[in-house]
Amino acid sequence: MKPVLELNQLQVSLHSRKQNHELVKGVTFSVMQGECLGILGESGSGKSMSMKAAMGILDKNFLVSGSAKFLGEELIGKSSEELRGLRGGKIGMVLQNPITCFDPLYRIGNQISETFMAHRKWGAKEIRERSIAMLNKMKIRNPEEVLEKYPHQLSGGMLQRIMIGIATSMKPSLLIADEPTTAIDAITQFEILNELVDIKKNYKVAMIFISHDLNAISRVADRIVVLNQGTVVDQGDFHHIIHHATDPYTRLLIEKRTDVMRRYKLALQGGV
Ligand SMILES: Nc1ncnc2c1ncn2[C@@H]1O[C@H](COP(=O)(O)OP(=O)(O)OP(=O)(O)O)[C@@H](O)[C@H]1O
Ligand SMILES: [Mg+2]
Repeated sequence: MKPVLELNQLQVSLHSRKQNHELVKGVTFSVMQGECLGILGESGSGKSMSMKAAMGILDKNFLVSGSAKFLGEELIGKSSEELRGLRGGKIGMVLQNPITCFDPLYRIGNQISETFMAHRKWGAKEIRERSIAMLNKMKIRNPEEVLEKYPHQLSGGMLQRIMIGIATSMKPSLLIADEPTTAIDAITQFEILNELVDIKKNYKVAMIFISHDLNAISRVADRIVVLNQGTVVDQGDFHHIIHHATDPYTRLLIEKRTDVMRRYKLALQGGV
């Protein structure tokens, strides 16, 4: 079976007048159909940058080399039109900052229908029905009213959920979710993570889930890649990462988590 996404020595550098900065220094990994790959790593380690490079959303100041294949097809070097056609259709993306992904001048409903129209031959009535169904699925209350709102009238968490809804309702082959639940409260986060697990199972989508949250990653990811300073420093399943990760930031995350678990157990036993 071919991987859905296969990165091979992907590199990104930023050229300025004075010097070159290497931001991603040769990242290699792949994701298969029906699998979720979690990406962990401290802030600035290149998680977002490597995904943006593969999807062709960096401007020309960034030099991208190496290979990123989607279903066997090379993405690096493709024209921006070709890449735009893939994104939002066969490749769904949930970006890290929800507010930057919406146009401030258009109502939410228009922005949802624009994506639907670009990739599906649905009529106006069907688009409205599907938009409302999608908002309901993403636990958004009063969906009819929300369709009439402008982005600034909604919270970051709501925009994040709408973005997840748009990306997943296109039934993509690949779904890239960059910190998809950071602005969402814990209870809704739980439900959204369940939704993502269902989507992975039912539609056999290949998923890349970027997060700082070890608990969230452990719930959705089958395998984890740890980045540090633009390179892969650890990889394996959750158990392997918990017990064998060498990256100091990852160890810190793990210790914090086990510490919380230990205190919780103590509290249950009446020890605290
Ligand atoms: N627009 C930009 N211009 C210049 N450098 C950038 C830009 N965006 C990111 N970088 C640099 O690229 C490197 C990787 O950044 P990236 O955004 O991929 O980090 P990240 O792992 O996603 O971090 P976070 O967890 O904070 O989202 C960092 O050194 C960062 O400073
Ligand atoms: Mg990031």
